[in-house]
Amino acid sequence: MSKIQAAITAIGGYVPEKILTNKHLEYMVDTTDEWIKTRTGIEERRILEEGLGMSYMAAKAVEMLLKKRGIDPLEIELVICCTVTGDLVFPATSNIVCDMTGMKNAWGYDIGAACSGFLFGLETGAKFIETGKHKKVIVIGGDKMSAIIDYKDRNTCIIFGDGCGAVLLEPNFEGLGVVDSILKADGSGKEFLHQKAGGSLKPPTHQTIDAREHYVYQEGKTVFKFAVTNMAEVSHEIMKRNNLTANDVNYLLAHQANKRIIDATADRMGVGNEKVLMNIQRYGNTTSGTLPLLMWDFEKILKKGDNLILSTFGGGFTWGSMYIKWAYNS
Ligand code: UT7
Repeated sequence: MSKIQAAITAIGGYVPEKILTNKHLEYMVDTTDEWIKTRTGIEERRILEEGLGMSYMAAKAVEMLLKKRGIDPLEIELVICCTVTGDLVFPATSNIVCDMTGMKNAWGYDIGAACSGFLFGLETGAKFIETGKHKKVIVIGGDKMSAIIDYKDRNTCIIFGDGCGAVLLEPNFEGLGVVDSILKADGSGKEFLHQKAGGSLKPPTHQTIDAREHYVYQEGKTVFKFAVTNMAEVSHEIMKRNNLTANDVNYLLAHQANKRIIDATADRMGVGNEKVLMNIQRYGNTTSGTLPLLMWDFEKILKKGDNLILSTFGGGFTWGSMYIKWAYNS
């Protein structure tokens, strides 16, 4: 029997209706539309309304996916939810989404790897398919970043937004699906990008709230430097070890954190602009949501057999790249 590969066979996505433009941000912090556009490529981002959590967006994405694939929620065996902004500290948002969408036969858990969450989740989900353990696995990637962003901090509030995507993984016997991956982590990078309080090291107190420690802290310039080097390097490396030239690559799907980082990655790979999928201008950085939202937005142009390179870099530090042979025409 030929080898089992894990192929993406359906996608769903959700972004909130409320739009926060660069112009709006000009009234909130000392910034300009021009600065944000030229330094990041972002024009607007989406914000989920108060009272709704990550599970709301995830359930919408999952429902869309199930409808598109025409399958019953009871067929899903495993749900991996990649997020750093789960509804609650526990239980896992995966469990909540299963309950909301009727996936009563599934087990699941959350993965927290910041902006690399979805890639790490995809790798994990793929293994359950490749081993023959499961036949239908959903991997969700998304974040409600507005819940942990300080809208008085111009270093972070201009970048992040809310959104979520979900993919279905199923067995493939034609050599399509996840082909290879390189995944990395270096905890010494934590000091440059983290949330200071709210975890077991520093549980919430009045002091932590007064000190605004429940928001994202980022030393942008340092993160930028590591992101450019590592994302570009790992993307080049995965091409090399799979004997892919720039001509062989149909599309680059890179984490949407900053257009300048994406351009540097494409340059290192030798891949032209026309092959770089981009929606950063509309959603900003949705952390675990960027890669599935790219697939969702560009699903129509992806063709069976296309060679895709996925790349990411984020808090941890975590980073990685994945080579996927796309499995269907939509
Ligand atoms: O997704 C997880 C991983 N995260 C990332 O990949 C993000 C990586 N970092 C970045 O994308 C960029 O570092 C930022 C977009 C966060 C900042 O851009 P930058 O080009 O690195 O700016 P900078 O921090 O070096 O600041 C340059 C100048 C400074 O002014 P002076 O000192 O040169 O006078 C800043 O004070 O721009 C100023 N500045 C701003 N001006 C207007 C910083 N933020 C802003 C702002 N509006 N929002």
